[in-house]
Amino acid sequence: MSQTVSAPAKIILLGEHAVVYGQPSLAVPLSALRAYAEIVHLPQNSGLRITAIDLDNQEFTVNSHSTESDQPLVSAALLLLNDLGCTTLPDANIILRSDIPIASGMGSGAAITTALFRALILLLGKEVSDSHLNDLVYEVEKMHHGTPSGVDNTVIVFEKPIYFMRGKPIERIKIDKPFTLLVADTGIGASTKIAVADVRTLYNSNMIFITRILDSIGELVVVGQQAIENGDYVNLGHTMNENHNLLQKLTVSSPLLDKLVDIARGSGALGAKLSGGGRGGNMIALVSEESAPYIKEQLLDAGAIQVYQTVVKE
Ligand code: MEV
Repeated sequence: MSQTVSAPAKIILLGEHAVVYGQPSLAVPLSALRAYAEIVHLPQNSGLRITAIDLDNQEFTVNSHSTESDQPLVSAALLLLNDLGCTTLPDANIILRSDIPIASGMGSGAAITTALFRALILLLGKEVSDSHLNDLVYEVEKMHHGTPSGVDNTVIVFEKPIYFMRGKPIERIKIDKPFTLLVADTGIGASTKIAVADVRTLYNSNMIFITRILDSIGELVVVGQQAIENGDYVNLGHTMNENHNLLQKLTVSSPLLDKLVDIARGSGALGAKLSGGGRGGNMIALVSEESAPYIKEQLLDAGAIQVYQTVVKE
């Protein structure tokens, strides 16, 4: 008998990049797109294996005597096993697969790690709080992304819309009325690590100008959160538009992202912006439920390879 656990994709509504510098951000899970970890129990002495369906079905063996590995999934598993003080490994194969496009700004890496960790915790019969799980997934994020803010792992582990600020307790967003988002995938894979590093270079070369932009993004996040709490979606759309303009100044947009933003706005979206690390990845648009099918069609015509529709609620 096998068991499957999972974790969702994520979308940053407002505040990406500035969140790395201590500004607030708003993020929501995209529950329809998920990473899965299926636990298959194996006969005694078979050892612990991880099979990655999306990496050509490659199978990796976890060796209890090592503390690290060159293989990122194995090294993540070892981090959790060491944290939980496990010396004897279970006999099982954890089969990983994901619906979340890779390098798309939707948190595929953090979702895979979260699903893998949930599977291991279940196998070991341990009790681990979401808060501790989140800290562990963040450690893995740091191994891959350099200086992540922690927003991605937090929204993915808790699977709730959140107001996130580095080093502050996580706040749930109160949502007055559910709202609809379209998420358009450019199909262009882009490294968040590189985009974050480029913004850092820009920051170091012109601290006063970039700090002003980051502060303005932080202010938009606060306005956006109030707009959500009041159900004022015209204002939320406006903050998304302004946020996109500021992200352009941070050089993390791209011609296709800008085109999709323009198309979304021109077709009736209340607001649109890039979401996540940028340069590629995805664009999000705030739309009414009635206008969603038409705007979706326009985005696909304009070059999006896939458009997901999601309703954000508490
Ligand atoms: C990536 O989803 C969000 C960024 O702000 C990076 C981070 O917060 O670690 C670009």
